[in-house]
Amino acid sequence: MVLSIATSILGGLVLSAELVSCIAIGHVQGRAPYFPAIVTPTASSYWDIDRNAFVTWDASKVPSDADPIPWVQLYNTTEYGGPNYVATLASNFPAQSGKVTFKVPEVVPGSYFVMRESQFQDTPYSSAHFTIGSIYIPFSPVVISPTSSTVWKLGSQQTVVWSTSNIPEDADNLVYVDLYQTGDFGGPEFVATLVQDIPREQGSAEVTVPTDITPGNKYFLMVATWGNDSPQFTITE
Ligand SMILES: *[C@@H]1O[C@H](CO)[C@@H](O)[C@H](O)[C@H]1NC(C)=O
Repeated sequence: MVLSIATSILGGLVLSAELVSCIAIGHVQGRAPYFPAIVTPTASSYWDIDRNAFVTWDASKVPSDADPIPWVQLYNTTEYGGPNYVATLASNFPAQSGKVTFKVPEVVPGSYFVMRESQFQDTPYSSAHFTIGSIYIPFSPVVISPTSSTVWKLGSQQTVVWSTSNIPEDADNLVYVDLYQTGDFGGPEFVATLVQDIPREQGSAEVTVPTDITPGNKYFLMVATWGNDSPQFTITE
């Protein structure tokens, strides 16, 4: 039984998550290599389609000379209970980092699990089943700086600060900062993207005020989510 399972894995077929985990542990015994099992996602994880998510493992068990991990893949379970390959989430990333981030592919919402290649070709590591959905809960942090009394000079370096309280654990969304101004009729007019792809738990980002804009007192920022505004502030020469 075990032999035929191992053979089918080597043949490129993959078996149920639970079964594979059992084999992996059995295989490792006696060789004393590292065994960095997947830490997240867990059964309570939730990934949003088209948003960033990550897989983590215990990096403390990874030797400094370990090879890059060739892949981490997404699977779901067929109606007959077998694993069904859905997508490759990331490939060829460092084993020592303990974490790999990627964009969640456009899959049918439902229950999925991930498998990560191990240093033994025949013993992939798998996660628990977790949920992928499309209920995007926007990250709308309070903008702490700039405030209504802020004055920025054209071309100067400034720091934008947002609140990092109540950040949901799993989704690893990246923050952008766009500069807008209030138009003559009160609507928002896009001016420029000041910075993007900042990890949201960083809570701040350095930006350079553009030089090719007209000074005024009706500028504001949108941070992380459309509609998540800073107060209006002033840009001077
Ligand atoms: C598995 O995922 C694929 C891709 O999203 C989907 O088309 C399929 O319906 C899913 N199968 C089950 C049993 O949920």
